[in-house]
Amino acid sequence: MCGIVGIIGEGEVAPLLVKCLSRLEYRGYDSCGLATLNSVGIEIRKDIGPVEVVASRQNLDLAHGSTGIAHTRWATHGGVSRENAHPHFSCDRSFAVVHNGIISNHHILRAQLEELGHHFSSTTDTEVFSHLLEEEWRPGISVEESFVHALRRLEGTFAIAMISAHDPKRIFCAREKSPLTLGIAAGANIVGSDVNAFLSYTRQAVLLDDGEYAVVSKNDFRVKEIATGKSREKQIVQIEWNIEGSEKAGHAHYMEKEIWEQPEVIRRAMEVSQQEIVSLARLIVEAPRKLLIGVGTTYYVALFGQYLLASLAGEFAPALSSDEAANLALPDPDTLLLAISQSGETFDTLQGLRMAKAAGARSAAIVNVPGSSMTREADLVIRQNSGPEICVISTKAAMAQMVLLTRLAIELAYLKGRGREIQAFKIIDELDRLPEIFETMLKDLQQRVRRLALQYKDKRNWFFLGRGIYTPVAYECALKMKEVTYLHAEGMSAGFLKHGTLSLIDPETPSIFLMPPMEEKALYDLTMGSLEEVRARSGPVIAFNPNEERGKFDEELSLPKVSPWVAPLLHLVAGQLMAYETAVALERDVDRPRSLAKSVTVA
Ligand code: F6R
Repeated sequence: MCGIVGIIGEGEVAPLLVKCLSRLEYRGYDSCGLATLNSVGIEIRKDIGPVEVVASRQNLDLAHGSTGIAHTRWATHGGVSRENAHPHFSCDRSFAVVHNGIISNHHILRAQLEELGHHFSSTTDTEVFSHLLEEEWRPGISVEESFVHALRRLEGTFAIAMISAHDPKRIFCAREKSPLTLGIAAGANIVGSDVNAFLSYTRQAVLLDDGEYAVVSKNDFRVKEIATGKSREKQIVQIEWNIEGSEKAGHAHYMEKEIWEQPEVIRRAMEVSQQEIVSLARLIVEAPRKLLIGVGTTYYVALFGQYLLASLAGEFAPALSSDEAANLALPDPDTLLLAISQSGETFDTLQGLRMAKAAGARSAAIVNVPGSSMTREADLVIRQNSGPEICVISTKAAMAQMVLLTRLAIELAYLKGRGREIQAFKIIDELDRLPEIFETMLKDLQQRVRRLALQYKDKRNWFFLGRGIYTPVAYECALKMKEVTYLHAEGMSAGFLKHGTLSLIDPETPSIFLMPPMEEKALYDLTMGSLEEVRARSGPVIAFNPNEERGKFDEELSLPKVSPWVAPLLHLVAGQLMAYETAVALERDVDRPRSLAKSVTVA
């Protein structure tokens, strides 16, 4: 949802701005640009295209100045064009602005500013802000005052960074419902949409809150309230994330790297303290009503949690997609809401969390990105510590969340006296062994999945089918396929198929069946029943198969034999690989799929 960077340092900042910007590319990549302040004023270079392309086409690295801001865009208001790329100038070119969010009163402001003679160069909502600054500034009024006056006229959501030729030694930035952080380094300070922007340069961060603005100079920063101008004391926090996490480490794409990182990510999810998981389990047991929310992949993770909590612990905790939670959930003080999010900033999920808190509900969150809004706003936070997930398509973060939900369901089962009945210790043993199993499995599957992907890549429509807990995994596999290959894929519970969708099955439409281990006899038989229905309509059947029996399917990927509680996680890896290899075979832009952005911070 657009990435913002600002750097104020000693030497030329443009090369560093470009590097930091490329770290935020998962937030959007349809166009980008930068503005630097130098002896002749503000220089803007921008164009359509991802950072790497624009950087070489426009020589972004060569812009002069030791103060600058930069932006990578995911278009919301105004099409993808050079004019609409950020930064945006004021008419007199003394202010330049980058923005993430939506200024909802931009039409009114624009009309007022045009009446006053301002000329607009773009059709974005953002540009009103640079003109407002010009309008608010005059000799005797400081740039900081102009900035605050202009901010107070905005409605909507924003993370904004601004530089001005009237005050060249500072960057001004502000946050209202769009994420923004400061990175504090020796001899330079950095503004970034999130910590990924500056992780390679500093681990010291200041987390801005909604309604705050900051004035940042080379060696200092001050934070104040937008509404009152009162100073706010801010802590510098240490971000404990692995820097190597941001590199591709020899893989062709971040998606591949992050799939292969899953053994390590599971280890880290297993290291999350028992105490934290027990505290969350207690909150759940004590709450008369509980809800799980997430959206996109994290909604499917929440659904996975719903199945686990029901089957292992006998707890009914419905999962809601957070984009619709406001229309369905009606939380009250009896509710415990558990939000699941990689970024910790997704607008829909954050809104669901805030709505629950406003209604007096208790809240908890499972989150990856340290310092993100959800980590600060939920009453209880489980930090999954999966490291930076750079690819727009979520893989490893979802895996860690599923492992944590499995641990949560086990603790809940213990609290409810069912630990022995479900043989909880055996499931924990299996989870502990999982990283090793994954390491072997990934090596084993790679070539086979590649061959399958080459063979089937031209099929336009796909189904991913499973029953029981395999259903949310089937949804998630289909989402992976859609996002990265641009092929149509539907995830569905296999039992649902016969209630209408079966009419779509034909010889050109492959169905991937997520087969349960045979010891889950009832589930296995039901899945086989659905499979026969597909076969009877001449639909090609591919099985992710953890069983020894062979020859029942047109194609199969055999998976290691594990207990039913962890088997769905193996299917998820197979689905991720299938999507990845098909995208590679189709020569898709794997890490930058069209139209997507990773952190969706708008409504
Ligand atoms: C899919 C994907 C999205 C996110 C969704 C929620 O691969 O990445 O569907 O899962 O936007 O994002 P987070 O988890 O950051 O709240």
